[in-house]
Amino acid sequence: MITAVRRYGARGLGIDVGRERLEWARRRAGPDLDHIVFRRQSVLRTDLRQADVVLMYLVARINFKLIPRLAKLKRGARIVSHNFELPGMAPDKTTRLMCSDGHSHQIFVYRTPLVSV
Ligand SMILES: C[S@@+](CC[C@H](N)C(=O)[O-])C[C@H]1O[C@@H](n2cnc3c(N)ncnc32)[C@H](O)[C@@H]1O
Repeated sequence: MITAVRRYGARGLGIDVGRERLEWARRRAGPDLDHIVFRRQSVLRTDLRQADVVLMYLVARINFKLIPRLAKLKRGARIVSHNFELPGMAPDKTTRLMCSDGHSHQIFVYRTPLVSV
């Protein structure tokens, strides 16, 4: 999200239930903080309908619970999920990234309307 703000002038909403994770994200955003709102809340209670892109790094169980909300995104919206797929949904694209931590990370990209496998 920080890269999207810096490179493309996007505005972002960062959600996590964990206080420490949010503090870490705020520090990472630094001067770009003006373009990102951080909220400590459950993504399962967040209205996502205005989003053009939803970037997520959750776990499979939460991804599964989130599907009904993601299904309400506007047509053509993208969902980019880090390491965990949306169970039962067909990705538009998958890719692997080698990150600076030396680990390979899998990325699943979906586009709405979601399509079941
Ligand atoms: C695999 S970690 C990813 C960490 C972090 N989001 C990142 O991008 O590096 C999963 C994260 O999901 C958060 N999480 C779990 N359930 C959540 C929920 N219902 N709503 C928002 N965040 C949640 C956890 O607090 C944890 O930070």
